[in-house]
Amino acid sequence: MQVDNIKKVTVVGSGTMGNGIAQIFAVKGFDVNLVDMNQEILDAAKSAIDKSLSRLVKKEIISGDDKSAALAKINTSTNLGVAKDSQLVIEAVTEKLEVKVEIFKKLDQDCPPDTILASNTSSLPITQLASATNRPDKFIGMHFMNPVPIMKLVELIRGMATSDETFAVTRDLSEKLGKTAVEVNDFPGFVANRILLPMINEAIYAHMEGVAEVKAIDEVMKLGMNHPMGPLALADFIGLDVCLAILEVLHEGLGDPKYRPCPLLKKMVHAGYLGRKTKKGFYDYAS
Ligand code: CAA
Repeated sequence: MQVDNIKKVTVVGSGTMGNGIAQIFAVKGFDVNLVDMNQEILDAAKSAIDKSLSRLVKKEIISGDDKSAALAKINTSTNLGVAKDSQLVIEAVTEKLEVKVEIFKKLDQDCPPDTILASNTSSLPITQLASATNRPDKFIGMHFMNPVPIMKLVELIRGMATSDETFAVTRDLSEKLGKTAVEVNDFPGFVANRILLPMINEAIYAHMEGVAEVKAIDEVMKLGMNHPMGPLALADFIGLDVCLAILEVLHEGLGDPKYRPCPLLKKMVHAGYLGRKTKKGFYDYAS
């Protein structure tokens, strides 16, 4: 498989990450299948993509025609079988191993043998996901960053059996998307979240222990370290449930108590305060 052979991409999962991934491929002229469980979710995804593209038109990064052309490139479907004519499939569903494994088993049955299967998982083991298929050499982690249209990084995570060809094709494809691919090996949290989530967790502990208020903690990191968002605003942006899931993978996968999720984070997730997506996290987004 060469990067120029990739004409059609299927993205499975149309949440924040999935719809962002579909958008960047469509803007670059790829045919895209965007798959999710029901049409209501897919319609919401298409409108999120429309809104994001409008921001890019407003910034004159793309034209109005580019926006229309990109939207026309995206075919939404509730049938995972549409992936059978894709040269690349990127999974971006919920961070539950068993859900991802079921999806990859079906993709492995439906897709031609040389189709590359990739996961956008934020921390789950690529090697274990690959073992659910008969093509571990054509399996890789393509970890995009939120918001996908803006963030330059793609962490390319090799499973134990990922071939050099698969790595080279996905690296070249990332560059074709205007992203920078960084090679990372398959260990819990990879690099991005191995470093980011302990910082976010520490910020939540600092707040829980009364070191400072939410806004003050974020102000310190924005004004002191030039972070574009403070760690607690970022946690709301990522999703507190996603943050908790990643910390649990780090804690279990690395066996070090330093990764234990802060009790306040667990309590907020149990209360359904998940950040921007539920309009309440460390900040209120209802207004
Ligand atoms: N689509 C298109 N454009 C977007 C956009 C989107 N989804 N989101 C933001 N933008 C653009 C806006 O148009 C704006 O453009 P200009 O600056 O040229 O005006 C710019 O990005 C800034 O947007 P906002 O004004 O809304 O807010 P901001 O200035 O604070 O920037 C941000 C938003 C780009 C998200 C910035 O705050 C930021 O970079 N935050 C850090 C994000 C981060 O760390 N992401 C990684 C999280 S970890 C992860 O994703 C991996 C995981 O596994 C969880």
